[in-house]
Amino acid sequence: MVDTSDEWIVSHTGIKSRHIAADNEAASDLAVEACTRALDLSKTAADDIDFIILATSTPDFPGLPSTACVVQDRLGCANAAAMDVIAACTGFIYALETARAFIKSGSARKILVVGSEVYSKIINWEDRNTCVLFGDGAGAAVVSAVEDGENHIMDSYLRSKGSGAESLYRCAGGSRNPFGAGATAPADLYLSMDGRRVYVFAVQAIIETIQVLLDRNGLRIDDLDWIIPHQANVRILEAACKRAGWPQEKFFVNIAEYANTSAASIPMAMREMEQKELIRRGQLILTVGFGSGLTYGGNLLRW
Ligand code: ACO
Repeated sequence: MVDTSDEWIVSHTGIKSRHIAADNEAASDLAVEACTRALDLSKTAADDIDFIILATSTPDFPGLPSTACVVQDRLGCANAAAMDVIAACTGFIYALETARAFIKSGSARKILVVGSEVYSKIINWEDRNTCVLFGDGAGAAVVSAVEDGENHIMDSYLRSKGSGAESLYRCAGGSRNPFGAGATAPADLYLSMDGRRVYVFAVQAIIETIQVLLDRNGLRIDDLDWIIPHQANVRILEAACKRAGWPQEKFFVNIAEYANTSAASIPMAMREMEQKELIRRGQLILTVGFGSGLTYGGNLLRW
């Protein structure tokens, strides 16, 4: 449908394949699958979950109800509050910090944190600037209060730069440009992106986030076992590492297989790393992400 090539996509992004949801699959369907596995793996009963925090920018319905409520019903989490977090590709990082804060305050004890995205549904497949970049996926974690007095989500750094809102957005369909027959150009309902601007922002966001979390916690890059970055483009990561003088081997990268799955990319990477026994209990992990908003940030975790 567009003038591109496998060679261009691989050399400019590092993406070799992607997974696309079926026509009848929405964000909640992928989320339910991921949450069911997270509940099984952590031996948690659905009834014990008191909050579902779902990060997505491709919700089942535009605005209401939240996709988290759809997931709450499907999972049978009878005792859970539910809400969506909209922070695009930084969504899981924001959701994890939200979960930490609720647990720390004592108002929740077991929270399902999930990132689920179906960008294939909001992509203009005739726009080569965006359609080559994204894939669909979901990942989930059960975040629980612990008795050992340790903070396993040790620190988070969350920031936003709303001045860049229109460099990565869907122009129409919201209250600014409501959907209406004749009023909306179909292309405006899809994702549009100023790739260069996002690229420049992303490199700076990665460096700032990692540096702040290291400095604030008296750490050096060598003290980290892994950095799990949002998987957007290998070249963004290469540029950040080159500028900051950081070893790229610290960063886990699986974008070749999945493309950019936005809020799902970090929990998906975590699960893959666990399955491959790359991350183990006690290790020091740093997540870092950036995305529409513009938003960015990271979490420092003791696994
Ligand atoms: N296929 C073939 N050629 C292409 C394509 C394509 N898909 N896209 C652009 N080109 C061409 C351009 O027309 C240009 O040609 P020209 O030199 O003849 O003018 C050339 O390739 C280079 O174009 P650039 O835009 O300079 O390409 P760049 O190397 O910057 O890569 C990219 C573009 C991949 C989009 C990059 O800017 C990027 O990764 N930006 C960040 C995007 C991102 O991470 N977005 C997600 C953020 S997370 C979220 O919240 C969703």
